[in-house]
Amino acid sequence: PLVSMRQLLDHAAEHSYGLPAFNVNNLEQVQAIMEAAAELDSPVIMQASAGARKYAGEAFLRHLIDAAVEAYPHIPVVMHQDHGQSPAVCLTAIRSGFSSVMMDGSLLEDGKTPASYDYNVEVTRKVVEMSHAIGVTVEGELGCLGSLETGEAGEEDGHGAEGKLDHSQLLTDPDQAADFVKLTDCDALAIAIGTSHGAYKFTRKPTGDILAIDRIKAIHQRIPNTHLVMHGSSSVPQELLAIIREFGGDMKETYGVPVEEIVEGIKYGVRKINIDTDIRLAMTGAIRKFMFENPSKFDPREYLKPAREAAKLVVKARFEAFGCAGQA
Ligand code: G3H
Ligand code: 13P
Ligand code: NA
Ligand code: ZN
Repeated sequence: PLVSMRQLLDHAAEHSYGLPAFNVNNLEQVQAIMEAAAELDSPVIMQASAGARKYAGEAFLRHLIDAAVEAYPHIPVVMHQDHGQSPAVCLTAIRSGFSSVMMDGSLLEDGKTPASYDYNVEVTRKVVEMSHAIGVTVEGELGCLGSLETGEAGEEDGHGAEGKLDHSQLLTDPDQAADFVKLTDCDALAIAIGTSHGAYKFTRKPTGDILAIDRIKAIHQRIPNTHLVMHGSSSVPQELLAIIREFGGDMKETYGVPVEEIVEGIKYGVRKINIDTDIRLAMTGAIRKFMFENPSKFDPREYLKPAREAAKLVVKARFEAFGCAGQA
């Protein structure tokens, strides 16, 4: 069934596990996630970005997720809107049937100008007021995603601050987090700990100076009852980069968030872990390989099938690592 995200997050907190939240844009991604969940008996969070809605259209996304619920009636599914840039965007998603929304007030409506704290509180509180009245969950964000190595947001288009961020913007302050949750009453809080969106997060395998897992612990100590969210949490597996390179792709050296660091975060209140890039890398590698090995084939089903299989392997690995398998 379609369930509220709050329900899943509370269950995850009670049983000390984390839920990966996968971005979806098309049929094959939805199928990959549902097949993995069914095989491992795991609850599911699927989320759609503004880019996803632009690509697929609100109606197609909604019906894809409704189809997932119909095809897998025993699996709890959350349909979450990722990075809502204004209360109006959140309202549209709610009207479209999303059971959870993110009001990302860390940036202004342009999605790139860092916002003031007061602005963030105001828009988030507004979304909480309209959402809670009808049982919709709200995720807020405090602090800006971006690299502690370079001060940059990482992603060229969308969901990232423009220009250099300073250290204080790149790490969520625990006291401010406590104040923010008190003033907004949001259900879940996305925090900044040095991760960024996309494939290029770190120039080396991250250590504590560039991936601040300790900050999660400090925030969790301050607000133990708030579900924490990690964005930019793809692990960017080296073996997926290798497949893409082997079959003609151009990927520079890069490192993601190691699965074991996320597992550490789950011990300290992280309940939702956002993953998009890893599925993109898996599908791209599989399609490149298929195209290279089968130059005469032209039926999209033939190359989308291995892409769906590759995505499913990533999804299963995260369900298992985060302790989500068997919790449906
Ligand atoms: O928030 C970032 C996600 O990776 C979504 O990216 O805007 O390209 O769909 P997108
Ligand atoms: P990745 O780019 O690391 O997959 O992060 C996705 C994300 O945070 C979506 O909100
Ligand atoms: Na989100
Ligand atoms: Zn994000």
